[in-house]
Amino acid sequence: MCIYRLWVINNKKINYLIIMIFHLIMSYYNNISSGYDELYKEEQLNKIKLILQNVKINSEDKILDVGCGTGVSWDLIPTQNIVGIDPSNELIEKSKHKKNMILGKAEKMPLRDNEFDVVISLTAIHNFEDIKKGLIEIKRVGKDKFALSILKKSKKLDFIKKEINKLFKVKKEINEGKDIIFII
Ligand SMILES: C[S@@+](CC[C@H](N)C(=O)[O-])C[C@H]1O[C@@H](n2cnc3c(N)ncnc32)[C@H](O)[C@@H]1O
Repeated sequence: MCIYRLWVINNKKINYLIIMIFHLIMSYYNNISSGYDELYKEEQLNKIKLILQNVKINSEDKILDVGCGTGVSWDLIPTQNIVGIDPSNELIEKSKHKKNMILGKAEKMPLRDNEFDVVISLTAIHNFEDIKKGLIEIKRVGKDKFALSILKKSKKLDFIKKEINKLFKVKKEINEGKDIIFII
């Protein structure tokens, strides 16, 4: 068998595996959607508090939350102008903010270039099917303020850090309990 065919077969297998993993992650979040806020609220609030100490958000600012889940930390953000995007229909369905949420993935967001004053993403990037594509999209839809919180125990942490540093000018790295928060 020629090397090219082997390469195509292996690539197909890898793509299949990535899709399988994504579906497993989605069924996890869909299954825990009823108890999500109870499970994660406290730790996510801690992260948003740190972000708000480091990123100035005005009441007129337009905010995007990528991988927003139920938007558990939105009540602390001092603007009503928040949009979220997440591929878990169950998490969105359980959210009191669902009218402001889009069912979709970070990798292909139906949003305009430079549309948001601040883009945040809390503990979601390690779940993206294509991290590089997701980060490029985050950069595209944002202006110049971003706060990206990454799960420290993720095996993809080093890769994510490298990609963030390639794409953005990081001002500060905050070492939070479970996450590292990149202030950009
Ligand atoms: C640990 S939860 C964090 C949710 C929310 N950011 C919070 O602070 O509660 C991870 C989230 O990433 C979302 N996610 C998974 N794959 C994604 C993708 N490709 N694009 C955007 N979000 C994704 C999941 O559906 C889930 O809501």
